[in-house]
Amino acid sequence: MTWLLTGGAGYIGSHVTEAMQDAGVPVVVLDDLSTGRASRLRPTVPLVKGSVLDTATVRTVIRDHDVTGVIHLAGKKSVPESMTSPLHYYRENVTGALALLEAMRAEDVNQLVFSSSAAVYGTSDADYVTEDSPTLPDSPYGRSKLVSESMIRDAAAAYGLDSLSLRYFNVVGCADPALVEINGTNLFPLVFDALQRGDHPVVFGADYPTRDGSCVRDYIHVEDLADAHVAAVRAVSVGASQKAVNVGCGAGHTVFEVLREIGVMTGLDTTPEILPRRPGDPASMVAATALAERVLGWKAQRDLSQMVASAWHAVTATSQGKPEMTSVPSIGTS
Ligand SMILES: NC(=O)c1ccc[n+]([C@@H]2O[C@H](COP(=O)([O-])OP(=O)(O)OC[C@H]3O[C@@H](n4cnc5c(N)ncnc54)[C@H](O)[C@@H]3O)[C@@H](O)[C@H]2O)c1
Repeated sequence: MTWLLTGGAGYIGSHVTEAMQDAGVPVVVLDDLSTGRASRLRPTVPLVKGSVLDTATVRTVIRDHDVTGVIHLAGKKSVPESMTSPLHYYRENVTGALALLEAMRAEDVNQLVFSSSAAVYGTSDADYVTEDSPTLPDSPYGRSKLVSESMIRDAAAAYGLDSLSLRYFNVVGCADPALVEINGTNLFPLVFDALQRGDHPVVFGADYPTRDGSCVRDYIHVEDLADAHVAAVRAVSVGASQKAVNVGCGAGHTVFEVLREIGVMTGLDTTPEILPRRPGDPASMVAATALAERVLGWKAQRDLSQMVASAWHAVTATSQGKPEMTSVPSIGTS
């Protein structure tokens, strides 16, 4: 009953790997280490270096490790990069998912949890985004996730695969500096990077129809997200299938609230430089979480201060060279 984690040496994958091990589920990781780091994995975790696009390698890993289920995290995740390199994103994310599904089918592996994204919704104007909200992604990245979800659903209908696609909202925080995110693209890494340079953080738009004029987002601690994967594995193991499930806190924080919390936590001046709105930024994106509670029996537990404290600790420890990392986190592009 080993679970294969593709992309298990990544930021989220390494947290999921730890949560799976802590839950007593045997794991094996397949990762091409393009953005992952072997040093994120405990020595007890078997790591196979290879690409999910290589069906023969995936089939060998499945056979060698007696794999009965897969968490598919491997992929590319930068929205702006997907705009300039769309074919690369379709190859890695869509062809990657296809190759994995073919290998699973050939080896008769019928349980799958997939890393999808709130990017499948595009710019929603709903107060709470439900799984039935329109899916109109704004980027090749979002479309690559939506196409992958569709392929998985079709394969599930045709071959009896039990699967859940988890639509992550804004993933932040860190369990341990050794697992820190590299090239993160949401608000947290952008603000931390500005503060470490001694600059003011930049806020795009302070005239939104929100409680303080700045954008509202649903931030989720990566450890809560990892727990959601363990819950999803359990749900899939008893036959839950074919559903996309939002994974967020179900509560939003404004950009100004996040800056205030970072200021309190770090003691640094987080007074922002206000720039005009960016095109395509919705005023608010908050997950409806009722389905996650029902299907996964899971609810996020950690609050904004825990997210900020753990993320800041990881970034400062890493830049002081404490964890064994090959590079320090640098600014992302969205
Ligand atoms: N970080 C977020 O906020 C976020 C939000 C929504 C969805 N996601 C999705 O979650 C997944 C993990 O994201 P992350 O933040 O941990 O990113 P990450 O870049 O840290 O991890 C991705 C991992 O996949 C590996 N990988 C990439 N292509 C591969 C391939 N072809 N074969 C094998 N391994 C490959 C990388 O080496 C890396 O270890 C991605 O699919 C991403 O799209 C992330």
